[in-house]
Amino acid sequence: MPKLSGNNIVLREFTFNDKERLVELANNPRISMNLRDGFPNPYTLSDAEDFLRKYQKMESSQIFAIEYNNIYVGNIGLHKGIDVYRKSAEIGYFLGEPFWNKGIMTKAVNIICDYGFSKMDIVKIYAGIFEYNTASMRVLEKCGFKKEAVLEKAVFKQGKFFDEIRYAKIQM
Ligand SMILES: CC(C)(COP(=O)(O)OP(=O)(O)OC[C@H]1O[C@@H](n2cnc3c(N)ncnc32)[C@H](O)[C@@H]1OP(=O)(O)O)[C@@H](O)C(=O)NCCC(=O)NCCS
Repeated sequence: MPKLSGNNIVLREFTFNDKERLVELANNPRISMNLRDGFPNPYTLSDAEDFLRKYQKMESSQIFAIEYNNIYVGNIGLHKGIDVYRKSAEIGYFLGEPFWNKGIMTKAVNIICDYGFSKMDIVKIYAGIFEYNTASMRVLEKCGFKKEAVLEKAVFKQGKFFDEIRYAKIQM
């Protein structure tokens, strides 16, 4: 995978040495509450090892470690669809809490979108955001994504139903 960069931000491949730091960043209920249940909480060393092992074999996903001023601060990835959805990719990301609200994810999303549109043979990048995640919606709006749909009560998280807000960016 290539190394992508711009604006104090580098998106790079993971190595197995990232595992302890991944736990430090990811083990946070304020992060997992915004993600699918496949992202565990608590997030243990064995979860990080599992992720890094699977990461080596992923074909339809391109996931990068985000470095900010040379420090690993979060993850971002594009997951390509199959069949009739093969020209779209879903974007996913999280940042360790100490690094929130510094504009880091806005830069990382812009970098990965440029990469996706130019190298992954896709024309659409989308995300499904839980209705309470205002910060993530704001990031995508700043990156030129448009609100596309509200999928009512699509999400069942921590025992409650929530709407999923779909955001998408198209480049043909
Ligand atoms: C969502 C997340 C990636 C944002 O990353 P970030 O680097 O802090 O984002 P940025 O600093 O680039 O932009 C955040 C924007 O949201 C705004 N924001 C933050 N918290 C907010 C809130 N509670 N209400 C409204 N706006 C909020 C900020 O003010 C900023 O907008 P601005 O530039 O117009 O002021 C980060 O908070 C995170 O990892 N959250 C947990 C995981 C997650 O939600 N992943 C995405 C799942 S769809």
